[in-house]
Amino acid sequence: MIEVIRTASQMRDFRDALSPTTSLALVPTMGYLHAGHLSLVHEARRRVGPDGRVVVSIFVNPTQFGPNEDLAVYPRDETGDLVQAAAAGADVALCPTDVHEMYPSKATWVNVEGLSDGLCGRTRPDHFRGVCTIVTKLLALVRPDVTVFGEKDYQQLAIVRRLHADLFLPGEIVSMPIVRERDGLALSSRNAYLSPSSREDALSISRFLQTVRERAASGQRAVAALVGDAADHLVGGEIDYVEVVDAKTLEPVAAVSSRPLLVAIAARFGGVRLIDNTVLHP
Ligand code: PAF
Repeated sequence: MIEVIRTASQMRDFRDALSPTTSLALVPTMGYLHAGHLSLVHEARRRVGPDGRVVVSIFVNPTQFGPNEDLAVYPRDETGDLVQAAAAGADVALCPTDVHEMYPSKATWVNVEGLSDGLCGRTRPDHFRGVCTIVTKLLALVRPDVTVFGEKDYQQLAIVRRLHADLFLPGEIVSMPIVRERDGLALSSRNAYLSPSSREDALSISRFLQTVRERAASGQRAVAALVGDAADHLVGGEIDYVEVVDAKTLEPVAAVSSRPLLVAIAARFGGVRLIDNTVLHP
């Protein structure tokens, strides 16, 4: 049975009652769990061992949605999430029901400059401020030994690593690779919105990433040669960005060098905004 914790004070009590020798892992999510999230839960369980505790947080964080984004219709299925989280090895689901408890005031924000500005930050200006603020709150409440994030949200992961180091937050941040459907589509809770034809078109994202990997492997170095024809490949999609950036700084680059590069894509298919990426290693 998974224990459901609904308030910050209950979470603090649970944490305080754990013996100092019991390892605790956190998997932050916004729910509507899929196999990508479950891979994070499995990793969390593996890291803390059979005697440790795994907390999955399920909270659709309002502050990371822009005014015209999908907060109101974001897919939710708490009952299904609890069953899946338990089966994957979670002991506790932290499901805050009161947004005001999580945000007693709207005065305190956590922001990571620089890394938050490009890629998704360009069209979602306050998104990462919302992510950083809720992740900081979760880490302060749960005080995990390890927190597991997915690499599909690569920019989010880079920003969380920065804020974790800069604010001396507890535990370790670890990441898990993107989980894909058999046909290549990266798993996302938002895939639930895709019509069959948009889903078919959206497969062009992972196919294009594969093309870029092959181009890099065959010696193409200029970014223009790697991704310049993205629009011809992402047919049926409305491109937000296709960028090649330094995998650490997220600064745009002009050519393949001796540093790992991130190829990142955001595009809308049938109005559904999807992101995906791959890292090119030298
Ligand atoms: O990746 C997500 O699902 C969210 O951005 C997170 C990290 C749970 C914060 O709300």
